[in-house]
Amino acid sequence: AVFILLGPPGAGKGTQARMLTEAFGLVQLSTGDMLRAAVAAGTPAGLAARSVMEAGGLVSDEIVLGILKERMRQPDIRAGVILDGFPRTAAQAAALDDLLAENGQTVSAAIALEVDDEAMIDRVAGRFTCAACGEGYHDRHKQTARPGVCDKCGGTEFTRRADDNAETARERLSAYHAQTAPLIAHYDDLGVLERVDAMGSIAAVSQQLARIVSRVS
Ligand code: AP5
Ligand code: ZN
Repeated sequence: AVFILLGPPGAGKGTQARMLTEAFGLVQLSTGDMLRAAVAAGTPAGLAARSVMEAGGLVSDEIVLGILKERMRQPDIRAGVILDGFPRTAAQAAALDDLLAENGQTVSAAIALEVDDEAMIDRVAGRFTCAACGEGYHDRHKQTARPGVCDKCGGTEFTRRADDNAETARERLSAYHAQTAPLIAHYDDLGVLERVDAMGSIAAVSQQLARIVSRVS
């Protein structure tokens, strides 16, 4: 099964993809995480992507597709995948359709997480992540049970993303509206679109997603 999580920055794609990984054994494929790893490793793709990401724009389709296709060749993805932050342009969506068709597959469901723009800025600006295990938190919406200690792994180091300031977040949001939101119509035309109200609590959104994934897979 191939699930897509569509939604603006801060909608909760990463948070919910991790939940689906744990609950359904799906493999999370986050192009944002892959690109940040490439930047950290200083690969040619990472060097080209870095300034675009810091400015809140979209990295070129060529770089993103290169990274994603390489990841899709790994055998572990046969368990089923949850695409988090991909596709983000019409060209990426077309490339994904072609890639899946080569293996006789199609998109199982494209799930659009719907949030309003102001909530998104608030979610992104308050986000922090465990440096050891990658669990995501929020200053107000999802705190650690013990201050400064990760609930999942006990780690005590946390990071904040370079692009999580209000100004860059607004750029990311406008890139979403200009280039990614039109994909909602593409998946609606294919008959695989599911809309989810992502303004509720993390648990409420998880429940809606779990229902969709159980029904479709
Ligand atoms: P990427 O890493 O994909 O970032 P994004 O799309 O901006 O999404 P975020 O990770 O910011 O948000 P999210 O929806 O995952 O929210 P989260 O669950 O963390 O991309 C980064 C950059 O890489 C892009 O700008 C671009 O340059 C490049 N890139 C990546 N993919 C690309 C592609 N395919 N093509 C081209 N360029 C690409 O939640 C946010 C916060 O809110 C957390 O703190 C969380 O705890 C909290 N929260 C979550 N849900 C709720 C809730 N229901 N209520 C309250 N708080 C909540
Ligand atoms: Zn941790």
